[in-house]
Amino acid sequence: MTKMILASSNPHKLREFREILEPLGCEVVSQKDAGIDVEPEENGSTFEENSAIKARAIYKIAKCAVIADDSGLEVDALGGEPGVYSARYGGTRDDIAHNDLVIKKLEGVPDEKRTARFVCAITYIDADGNESRFLGKFEGRIGYEMRGEHGFGYDPIFMVGGISSAEMTPEEKNAVSHRGKALRLLADYINRTNSED
Ligand code: IMP
Repeated sequence: MTKMILASSNPHKLREFREILEPLGCEVVSQKDAGIDVEPEENGSTFEENSAIKARAIYKIAKCAVIADDSGLEVDALGGEPGVYSARYGGTRDDIAHNDLVIKKLEGVPDEKRTARFVCAITYIDADGNESRFLGKFEGRIGYEMRGEHGFGYDPIFMVGGISSAEMTPEEKNAVSHRGKALRLLADYINRTNSED
């Protein structure tokens, strides 16, 4: 088993990564369980940069394989906002306030201009320090009200084909989501490099 540290202690993310990587012979441990107490400032201007900042900070200490992800929502009519500020948009960490703010900022914006996407960047550093990056995107539109009980963050206002991503089951969302896509690219890469060894 190749041991990998996930640069997060979020149990939801840990489960998602484990489900995809363990069948490939990877043991995924959270940063907390690996005893690494470091929280670098995520001051990059892109999701890719922020995922690299997190992965490098842990690799420097652990010197074993590391995975870090960074994700968020880009709304075209807002020039890509909230982007890398998704988790703290409007100066708060409250999901409902985030959703209200996006809806308010899009008042009067017609359907065809409400395009948006979730983006997920993953940085993987292998035990030898080789760095790779994987990007997944999930396209949709911003709705006019919050809908659905699943998911988290901006899911209740993110509309795909008539339903919000908070109305999808976790399985339906994983099959098409930014994180699901980036994770499958990472899994393909690990699979390929394992079979070359
Ligand atoms: P992070 O990747 O944990 O830094 O997530 C950043 C923020 O982006 C989250 O706090 C959410 O607000 C938003 N976000 C990322 N992925 C999703 C998603 O799948 N659904 C809804 N919101 C998301």
